[in-house]
Amino acid sequence: MDAIQIRNLVKYYGTIRAVDGLSLRVAAGTMFGFLGPNGSGKSTTIGCLTGLLDPTAGEIEILGKRFDADSAGLKRRMGVMPETLGLFEPLRAHEFLAFVGRMYGLDESAVRKRVTELLDALELTDASKTLSEYSTGMRKRVAFAAAVIHSPEVLFLDEPFESIDPAGVALMKQWLHTFIEQGRTVFMTSHVLETVERLCQEVAIIATPGKLVWQGDITTFGREGAIVYDGKEFDALEPLFLHLTGERHVELKWL
Ligand SMILES: Nc1ncnc2c1ncn2[C@@H]1O[C@H](COP(=O)(O)OP(=O)(O)OP(=O)(O)O)[C@@H](O)[C@H]1O
Ligand SMILES: [Mg+2]
Repeated sequence: MDAIQIRNLVKYYGTIRAVDGLSLRVAAGTMFGFLGPNGSGKSTTIGCLTGLLDPTAGEIEILGKRFDADSAGLKRRMGVMPETLGLFEPLRAHEFLAFVGRMYGLDESAVRKRVTELLDALELTDASKTLSEYSTGMRKRVAFAAAVIHSPEVLFLDEPFESIDPAGVALMKQWLHTFIEQGRTVFMTSHVLETVERLCQEVAIIATPGKLVWQGDITTFGREGAIVYDGKEFDALEPLFLHLTGERHVELKWL
């Protein structure tokens, strides 16, 4: 079954075209990498897929159901860590996570248990600080906890590992592997292609403005080697990405 299906997604911000007819399918149980250069429309697409933004046109299906602004039931089966994190700054971590847990319909005992376990595991037990007083990585950890607290079936992560320390990243990856083993789906963006190569089974690469240029299985990189595209062989994600999105050589004479 497809966990995510996007058909001809278009998103304009005023007259700025951020996503231009994007179509994609993501099979359930996949760790899916959604890649593209800065400004190519990744965060905008995630916004549309999770109800944070209204698409200008196109159709979205999540877990086989049509997704739109009214899909409250479906939203409970989805988790999102947006690029802007979506934290409520005046709260403390435990207050914010409890709020999110309740919003997703968890009962009080589940809220208490999960908030405690998440904060302990992510080493966020310092309750003297509000979220606005947290460090960048700490804030990111809270946003990740908020995305998973209700055990979603489809998880959207926008640059989840950026700013998080190695121990935190290792823990998150461990959780994500378990998540996938249970047949659930992760849709994540990242500019760190080595991480994507190690973690993801499949990737889509988009170019500006929000157009699919390649989608495929990348597990072959580790096993039988190369992926052939345009008659060329690529033995890793980075050269393929640069080929598809345009590698630039610019010399600064004064540098
Ligand atoms: N709120 C906004 N108002 C106007 N234009 C926007 C807004 N948010 C994004 N854009 C524009 O939409 C395009 C896509 O932006 P988006 O943030 O989706 O890119 P991205 O692929 O996530 O980039 P990055 O890798 O830098 O995170 C860009 O041209 C950007 O300037
Ligand atoms: Mg982005």
